[in-house]
Amino acid sequence: MVIAGTGYRAVTLFGRMLTDPRARGLAQLVGLYDPNPLRLQVAASAMKVQVPQYTDFAEMLQKTRCGTVIVTTVDRTHDAYIIAALEAGKDVITEKPLTTDPEKLSRILQAERLSGHQVTVTFNYRYAPYATAVREFLASGRLGTVTSVNFEWYLDTVHGADYFRRWHRQVQNSGSLWVHKATHHFDLVNWWLQQDPVEVYARGARRFYGEQGRPHGERCSTCAFTKSCEFAFDWQGDPLFESLYRQAEAADGYWRDGCVFAGDVDIWDTMTASVRYSGGVFMNYALHAYMPFEGYRIAFNGTGGRLECSVIEAVTPHTIPEFTRRQALRCSPDTASAQDFRFPLRVSDQETLYFFPVFGGVEAVAMPRTLVDHGGGDERMALDLLAPDAIDRWGHRAGTRAGAYSILTGIAARESIAQNRAVALGELVDLALLQ
Ligand SMILES: NC(=O)c1ccc[n+]([C@@H]2O[C@H](COP(=O)([O-])OP(=O)(O)OC[C@H]3O[C@@H](n4cnc5c(N)ncnc54)[C@H](O)[C@@H]3O)[C@@H](O)[C@H]2O)c1
Repeated sequence: MVIAGTGYRAVTLFGRMLTDPRARGLAQLVGLYDPNPLRLQVAASAMKVQVPQYTDFAEMLQKTRCGTVIVTTVDRTHDAYIIAALEAGKDVITEKPLTTDPEKLSRILQAERLSGHQVTVTFNYRYAPYATAVREFLASGRLGTVTSVNFEWYLDTVHGADYFRRWHRQVQNSGSLWVHKATHHFDLVNWWLQQDPVEVYARGARRFYGEQGRPHGERCSTCAFTKSCEFAFDWQGDPLFESLYRQAEAADGYWRDGCVFAGDVDIWDTMTASVRYSGGVFMNYALHAYMPFEGYRIAFNGTGGRLECSVIEAVTPHTIPEFTRRQALRCSPDTASAQDFRFPLRVSDQETLYFFPVFGGVEAVAMPRTLVDHGGGDERMALDLLAPDAIDRWGHRAGTRAGAYSILTGIAARESIAQNRAVALGELVDLALLQ
């Protein structure tokens, strides 16, 4: 395998996966590509690998004997690497989102068909034990026919803010959080319901980040307001920040600590949508990027009752104004004091599904809470990627069909906001390509 795009995700997920002793005999890393030679070097040393490094993708394809290309570049560039890899006769594992725009999506789907090779999209949230339990419960049929869904996703002032610091903050790079982030959420719903989205009506606004009339600099490193700013970026927050980004800046000018209140932020931070599905389900969905905790709540209403699910991935100690302390405590909620959080729900070590049968009563299904790596999804997914022939009982593995439907909901939401009308997914691409 080779990796295209050696940023944080490449190092922390795929680097670990390929250097893990469990990968021995199953997969081997044989090359790294990134346009930034400085980041390439840092990434190779962080992964503790000595493999050829390339700043020319075509050269890497030509010179290495790889069967699979892992794509972990900036979202807007996924299509170019996926298509070039397929045309060179390789399989592809791509990070979400599959891509950012309908035209790029159509080209990927056509290239995959012509190549006879396969694209896998890494939907790690599917693998989280809690998400898998929801899938199992819905498949049991106890909810009867699902009629509607209420789904809210919360990004907090640590993780949510991070999307407004760098490339993600522009629609042209990330497709906006409707695509970059909500691709996870829309994929979960499609997978849970086993239905396809048909039509979307959406609203979006920028109410917290971006130009909000407050004095600010361009980036935290040079800003005069860092002492009083709750969002001053902490270069000490992770040992990789300094080496992977600040030391590599000279080669491409990529700032990791751009100001979250900068004028060139053009993505939304407040989003709601109404979605209709192929089996008749209606969904109300909301995504906010400045919440006091991180996680989601979802309820499925059905002819057999109601299933309520709630996950708190991290509680932000919002009594504390400084970003550095907020971030540190958020990452270790068990060691922080309850007062730091001033939060009625102490983070428990269990996650619970609640089923309310339609004629009364409640059943609770509890399972251990997983604090790390996307609800515990990352490690399970990595092991599955290494053993693609293993039995996949709940259909965790995803290809371009799932990748496409999950981004098309978000792209339809963007169009709906622009045109102030409901947008059908069939207006965006030829859906026959997804059959
Ligand atoms: N599944 C998940 O939960 C999850 C989590 C984090 C990131 N991701 C995905 O991983 C990908 C990388 O995210 P990241 O956080 O590592 O970002 P990053 O900014 O740390 O890394 C992006 C890399 O892409 C490189 N790059 C920039 N322009 C390029 C171009 N034109 N061609 C090739 N490479 C280019 C950069 O030099 C950098 O090394 C994104 O697609 C993101 O959506 C997924």
